[in-house]
Amino acid sequence: MGLSSLFTKEIAIDLGTANTVILHNDKIVVNEPSIIAIKKSTRQLVAVGKLALMMQGRVHEDMQTIRPLKDGVIADFQHTEMMLKEFIKMAGTRGFIIPPALKMVICIPSGITEVEERAVRDSAEQAGAKDVRMIYEPMAAAIGIGLDIMSPDGNMVIDIGGGTSEVAVLALGGVVTRKSSKTAGDEFNENIIDYMRRKHNIAIGDTTAERIKINVGSAIEDLENPPEDYEVKGRDLVQGVPMAVKVNYREIAAALDHSISEIEQSVISALESTPPESSADIYNNGIYLAGGGALLRGLDKRISKLTGLQVHVADNPLMAVARGTGIALKNFDKFPFLIK
Ligand SMILES: Nc1ncnc2c1ncn2[C@@H]1O[C@H](COP(=O)(O)OP(=O)(O)O)[C@@H](O)[C@H]1O
Ligand SMILES: [Mg+2]
Repeated sequence: MGLSSLFTKEIAIDLGTANTVILHNDKIVVNEPSIIAIKKSTRQLVAVGKLALMMQGRVHEDMQTIRPLKDGVIADFQHTEMMLKEFIKMAGTRGFIIPPALKMVICIPSGITEVEERAVRDSAEQAGAKDVRMIYEPMAAAIGIGLDIMSPDGNMVIDIGGGTSEVAVLALGGVVTRKSSKTAGDEFNENIIDYMRRKHNIAIGDTTAERIKINVGSAIEDLENPPEDYEVKGRDLVQGVPMAVKVNYREIAAALDHSISEIEQSVISALESTPPESSADIYNNGIYLAGGGALLRGLDKRISKLTGLQVHVADNPLMAVARGTGIALKNFDKFPFLIK
């Protein structure tokens, strides 16, 4: 341990639309949903992360839950800053005699505007950062998966998060082609809510939709290892009383079909605009899937069928970006593609 580490704390932040992960010394010190709860009347922070998520859909009149990055961009600067500060606090400064200078790498969506980029940097500085670099999400995902992004050999990575799906081809330490779409995990949940309302006359909230997706979510209607039917509880739209109904994965596959086609469109359009040499590389290397959406049953198969390419799901897809951001932190002065 060098002397500077007594005064400097290094952290890597994956500021995701659904989850924020912070690493320090390769360890996960924060892994929380990107959500806060505030008191409406005073605009004061009530809770952040898991605690705030528990309140979602169950708040009383004077409370509000906010996901400040909901649509894949920094939809709400002020609350993003509030949230980021709390998470950095949670990452802790134990073991330091005086508050350490924070050195950090933050992962940001590649579709972010300059104004939003500035807002993330300002929030980080407000939270005590002295030295900040940023990295684009698909780059971080690729590094986290273990791909050699400095090599000329091209790789395609699809990162499906909460608010955005990003498709990128990377080579020589840069982004060759990139497509971003707002169709991702949040939209899947909305599809499920709509479906349950239309087909089963039942009103459900976001939290229940998320559980349905995890328990019986699927991208295809012919799974080899189908999950058991899942009992959904909510409010009967006709009688107004609580009710329960069973759903199977085929129904959810049908409900998600349109959204998944949209992601497929981005994949096709990214492949179409990839230069021929990189195309040849992708033919050899296949496609890599990361982000929580990569866990959707049958998605790899569906994309493989669409493209005729091999599709690999990252190990622990929810952590790939954070891992990659952690590696970028270790190469703070070495990786030329980090944004100053
Ligand atoms: N088992 C699963 N099946 C399908 N989707 C999942 C699963 N687990 C998590 N997700 C979804 O993944 C998304 C979060 O992924 P993440 O990569 O953390 O997103 P972000 O980078 O935007 O924060 C959420 O929309 C969540 O519902
Ligand atoms: Mg992400």
